[in-house]
Amino acid sequence: MDRRIKIFDTTLRDGEQAPGCSMNLIEKIEIAKQLESLGVDVIEAGFAISSPGDFESVKEISKTVKKCAVSSLARANIKDIDAAYEATKEAVHPVIHIFIATSDIHMKYKLKKTPEEVLTQAIEMVKYGKSLCDDIEFSAEDAGRSDLAFLAKVVTEVIKAGANTINLPDTVGYRTPIEIAEMIGYIKKNVPNIDQAIISVHCHNDLGLGVANSIAGIEAGAGQVECTINGLGERAGNAALEEIVMVLKTRYKRLQCITNVDTTQIYRTSKLVYNILGMIPPINKPIVGANAFAHEAGIHQHGVLAEKSTYEIMTPESVGVTKNNMVLGKHSGKHAFSDRLKSMGYNLAEQEIEVAFKKFKDLCDKKKEIYDSDLEAIVANKEQEIKKIELLGFEVHTRSDASSICSVKLRYQNKEIEKVSLGYGPIDASFNAINKVVSPLVFKLESYIINAVTDGVDAQGEVVAKVKVQDKMITGRGLSSNIIESSIRAYINAINKYFNMGVNK
Ligand code: KIV
Ligand code: ZN
Repeated sequence: MDRRIKIFDTTLRDGEQAPGCSMNLIEKIEIAKQLESLGVDVIEAGFAISSPGDFESVKEISKTVKKCAVSSLARANIKDIDAAYEATKEAVHPVIHIFIATSDIHMKYKLKKTPEEVLTQAIEMVKYGKSLCDDIEFSAEDAGRSDLAFLAKVVTEVIKAGANTINLPDTVGYRTPIEIAEMIGYIKKNVPNIDQAIISVHCHNDLGLGVANSIAGIEAGAGQVECTINGLGERAGNAALEEIVMVLKTRYKRLQCITNVDTTQIYRTSKLVYNILGMIPPINKPIVGANAFAHEAGIHQHGVLAEKSTYEIMTPESVGVTKNNMVLGKHSGKHAFSDRLKSMGYNLAEQEIEVAFKKFKDLCDKKKEIYDSDLEAIVANKEQEIKKIELLGFEVHTRSDASSICSVKLRYQNKEIEKVSLGYGPIDASFNAINKVVSPLVFKLESYIINAVTDGVDAQGEVVAKVKVQDKMITGRGLSSNIIESSIRAYINAINKYFNMGVNK
């Protein structure tokens, strides 16, 4: 009989804890909506007590998402649990996720508590959580290194106290697959009321075993798996959702497990997350890396042409990678354009189609052949709702033996302003000129990535610029077939994001 495995996505909580991965409210809501289309069961929207911004985003996601449960993390104390409850209570299905560490090393050095104290606190706080919310997940942090007899005792008691999901995290990514299976086997054997709860696994990837450990956990009886898009997360990250789901799907005959995930939404979700964060997965990353379905070697190509299954265990289409078709051109109308986007899985609002169509037409004037990936880039490069600053034009002069000079013309706070600046190169000069416009605000470029969307000399360049302002790191994105322009647009996009963040707080 098939087992239905619940997918608990923690991209917006554990994933966001990774350095350089913080997101603003609009970005988190966009990701939450995409996770809903992907079909995850639970979205861990944040850690409500950790900051007013986190509280607000858990609350907004709780109000927005209708098809999945929404969870907030809480340490095992009343303040955290109250915040998690307040933030999730408007969700269709709220979950309070209470955790406390159970390993000797964490209890002794981090909590400075005896095992008895930890047990009592866990029981009391699960009872308290249950008085507010029907769905309580309990996590025994560092379960992977906990004494199994103590772990079994805690699990038994928190189930009695009302926990209906028991998560056993390998917090430091230390265990091997067989050890994870043994831990779950032990808990199933030694927790008399375990049938009243779902066992969940949450495996970090420090030794590169996150996905393998999660699958071993599922094979040993876990009914829920916690993971993140693109494997984001602290240090080496969490187990990657897309890999776990595709293992379950591709190896269905062996594992006999199903999920609710619409796998054709995987690629889009991965792209959305990396576009927002500016973190492109390595090209050889399973499932979503640029080379995941590329067959370069002649012998492989020959095999795949003769019979796909020779070297292909899943199709690119099954994860939503469309063939990079040449699409539409100069003479295509809005109807054909929006139909093409629909067939690629984008369901945009009328207003969004309008904006994207205009960009498409502009691109048709500059680029001969337009591919699906150009359309994807157009859709991904959304402008901010409030545009305090807009590019009107620019001019650069650059030589190998002198500083570059750039003049930018911007509309800033409803005034047209033109500024000129020098720089080490044309991009530095253009950013310096923009900085003169927005002064006294100080924006500082921290990192910069450029990618060609397609092949060819007229390819669009997509720039992701991480910009720091007042201790906030903001990711801006810009797209153009002129790479200086993409850079300027990315910088301006980050500045507009900064203003939108202010408006949303
Ligand atoms: O890794 C971990 O232990 C966690 C818990 C808080 C669930 O993220
Ligand atoms: Zn974790």
